Amino acid sequence: MKFFIDTADIQEIRDWAGTGMLDGVTTNPSLVAKTGRDFLPLIEEICSVVDGPVSAEVTATDWETMVAEGHKLARIAMNIAVKVPLTPDGLRACKILTDEGTMVNVTLCFSPAQAILAAKAGATFVSPFAGRLDDIGHDGIALIAQIVEIYDLYPGIMTEVLAASIRSPKHVVEAAAAGSHVATLPPTVIEAMFKHPLTDKGLAAFLADWAKTGQSILTDGDTVQPLKRPA
Ligand code: E4P
Repeated sequence: MKFFIDTADIQEIRDWAGTGMLDGVTTNPSLVAKTGRDFLPLIEEICSVVDGPVSAEVTATDWETMVAEGHKLARIAMNIAVKVPLTPDGLRACKILTDEGTMVNVTLCFSPAQAILAAKAGATFVSPFAGRLDDIGHDGIALIAQIVEIYDLYPGIMTEVLAASIRSPKHVVEAAAAGSHVATLPPTVIEAMFKHPLTDKGLAAFLADWAKTGQSILTDGDTVQPLKRPA
């Protein structure tokens, strides 16, 4: 499963991109508003940091203006995925943009019927919002599993399921087990995924025992060099 980061905070994106574990970025108007930055230069900067798809959302509601906004966004960088809402106009814009060769992320998907429509419109990604469904007493992960199951029945469907509105490591694991192609994760969730008390406890014990040996793997003469192995 690919990992996208769900933030518009450039510092968070830079930090996580440095780990080599990021496959892309998703933003939305709320996340951009939180940064206080101008949208277009911000998206350009994000695209220069991450090679994978960077979702940038249109803000028009009619398809003609969505397409015009999509063109402007797509001109920023090759890795832009234009994000459109799951509305009739959004899917019409999706079809036009994908036919032109631009990646499109269809967002705000809350039902399998909507996901079928997104696939028909040729979306690169469809984003079911797990957390927001859970919030109203529905089962967000069950929706993701159902969309994956339906898409798998039709080898012609190239749309990837992008698990969105992810709130916890449990959501990530369940989205992965459901076969979601991508999950977009808030930085707080990525951090939480690393944590386990037995890891902390075990590491503390190993380091305490190692200290008793008085040894050190690196000594004064050692420098950190790239490892070159014969091909
Ligand atoms: C991703 O593309 C969505 O914008 C995001 O996951 C929404 O998450 P939220 O429900 O936590 O706002």
